[in-house]
Amino acid sequence: MTNRPRRSVLYMPGANAKVLEKAKTLPCDAIIMDMEDAVAPEMKQIARETIAAALAGGGYGAREIIIRTNGINTEYFKDDLKMAVAAKPDAILVPKIESKAEVLSIDAQIRELNNGQSIDIWAMIETPRAILDIFNICSAAQTTPFKALVMGTNDLAKETGAILDVERAPFLYALSAAINGAKCFKMAVIDGVFNDIQNMDGYEWQCNQGKAFGFDGKTLIHPSQIEKCNEIFAPKPEEVAYARAIVVAFADPENAGKGVLKVEGKMAEILHRDMALKTIAIAEAIEAMQ
Ligand code: COA
Ligand code: MG
Repeated sequence: MTNRPRRSVLYMPGANAKVLEKAKTLPCDAIIMDMEDAVAPEMKQIARETIAAALAGGGYGAREIIIRTNGINTEYFKDDLKMAVAAKPDAILVPKIESKAEVLSIDAQIRELNNGQSIDIWAMIETPRAILDIFNICSAAQTTPFKALVMGTNDLAKETGAILDVERAPFLYALSAAINGAKCFKMAVIDGVFNDIQNMDGYEWQCNQGKAFGFDGKTLIHPSQIEKCNEIFAPKPEEVAYARAIVVAFADPENAGKGVLKVEGKMAEILHRDMALKTIAIAEAIEAMQ
């Protein structure tokens, strides 16, 4: 599904069977079952087994399922990837990706484990080097099912020393670079998490900022963050109505051959019709999920 909604993408610690169960009742578009940052070193094998059991049991409905492995240079990666491939998620998310070669290698390893079949790859973008080489990294999408970037803003803060506040001025370059890289190859791109679960005003502000940037959605850490995120990252009813008006105007035989029209007082070009079609498709995909 090319217009799959990714408004709310909720992380959960893979070693916690209770939260994996809880996810079946939550209205998030996607779930990331984590084996990396949210799992202590001595719990990595438990996390693999817990995730495998949860996915074998099913019950996640239309929610997109993503498994996050540990980094490719860790002692855990080989076993993580083996479990993840066998569990058949919608995508495998690999942290700390820094080069195109890494993505190509992950794709080759997945096919090797999976009778030649690929599985979609998502990458965490969370190091300075990844930001500075983002176009090259994303170009791996030309030959592999490399489908999405996920911003790792906590790790970026750790690596750069930049302060991760609500407004994120020190991160504007990194966020924007990743969005532009992803969009060169029609990939999805999902914003980083908001750590201060109690601060709903700050959270809402940052969701709106992410939406304005062009992110498809936001990664989340707590169920209380889902509802606001779904609302902010969905096209507004008035946006959908205006999108439909643009499509209708361009389809009107009276406007045949015209490249630019006035719709509800605003200039609409063919590029706006293309944007309108996308808005309508996303709105319909969201409706279909409910
Ligand atoms: N996914 C699914 N369910 C979750 C959840 C999550 N990420 N976080 C909390 N819940 C559930 C709890 O299990 C609890 O369920 P219950 O009411 O049925 O008992 C309910 O939501 C309320 O949780 P709460 O008590 O407010 O939170 P907590 O103190 O148990 O957990 C965190 C707080 C931060 C530890 C937890 O939210 C968490 O682990 N978040 C994800 C962290 C993560 O994966 N990080 C990696 C990427 S940054
Ligand atoms: Mg991280």
